Amino acid sequence: MTTAMKNSDIRELAGKRAVVTGGSRGIGAAIVRRLLDAGAEVLTTARSEASPVPEGAAFVAADVRTRAGAEAVAEAAQEVLGGVDILVDNAGGARPFPNAWDIPDEEWQDQLDLNYLASVRLDSLLTPGMRERRSGAVVHVSSAAVPTSAPPFLHYTAAKAALQNYSRGLALELAPFGVRVNAVSPGRTATPGGEATREAWGKLVEEGPGQDSTAPPLGRDGRPDDIADAVLFLVSDRSSWLTGRNLTVDGGEFPV
Ligand SMILES: NC(=O)c1ccc[n+]([C@@H]2O[C@H](COP(=O)([O-])OP(=O)(O)OC[C@H]3O[C@@H](n4cnc5c(N)ncnc54)[C@H](OP(=O)(O)O)[C@@H]3O)[C@@H](O)[C@H]2O)c1
Repeated sequence: MTTAMKNSDIRELAGKRAVVTGGSRGIGAAIVRRLLDAGAEVLTTARSEASPVPEGAAFVAADVRTRAGAEAVAEAAQEVLGGVDILVDNAGGARPFPNAWDIPDEEWQDQLDLNYLASVRLDSLLTPGMRERRSGAVVHVSSAAVPTSAPPFLHYTAAKAALQNYSRGLALELAPFGVRVNAVSPGRTATPGGEATREAWGKLVEEGPGQDSTAPPLGRDGRPDDIADAVLFLVSDRSSWLTGRNLTVDGGEFPV
């Protein structure tokens, strides 16, 4: 057969049950589509369904910044899927502030809740089942900006740095149970959230680290599917000897 294999031909996740947070748009929606194409059953979540979730996915409205939100997702996962084999903690986002000292306490807490503690809470609710079945895969969506910690996103990159550090530790704890945990760190990716953040940033500073029009070495910004492909790899058996790692997907832009 000479025709190239389409993603939809690869049903490598058939029989798997997946939860993806933030699947109503951007990177999360692309991840949901990739997992559905690969044969998984998918439940996704966002605060609202203003942007409709990809066809074929189940949806529960929840704010993952709170324990109650995480519990609502876990309950829906039990009800709709009957258990979870794959968890992708993707919901997240940044709001720029001119200086670290201008960031109010509530904003620090909000960024920690959204970009770090949401994953911790959801993992704590959904990985015990994986541990019992001695199989499962968790992916944390972080950011390629973590190593450079570029202002004006100190609270965002600090929260994502904590997420990466925790991700590595959780991987070590869960490895003996056959559960793999990895992170994916996107670079500049064209999504509604990414564009809104960069617009707000542009109003704060005309030129700052990363806030320039130079394309990454590979010549373009990321597409949500670029990130979703990396996630698909990390939740599939193709990466069965890979855990505790952070995969940066950024067109070569960042130094590490
Ligand atoms: N795009 C980039 O350039 C880039 C770069 C590096 C890292 N990332 C990371 O990639 C991930 C996805 O980013 P994106 O650009 O695709 O963002 P996006 O376009 O803003 O989409 C975010 C998704 O998460 C949901 N969400 C946001 N806050 C939530 C909350 N409190 N509870 C539940 N769901 C929530 C949103 O729906 P609702 O608003 O309806 O809740 C939406 O479905 C994030 O973790 C982000 O930090 C993105």
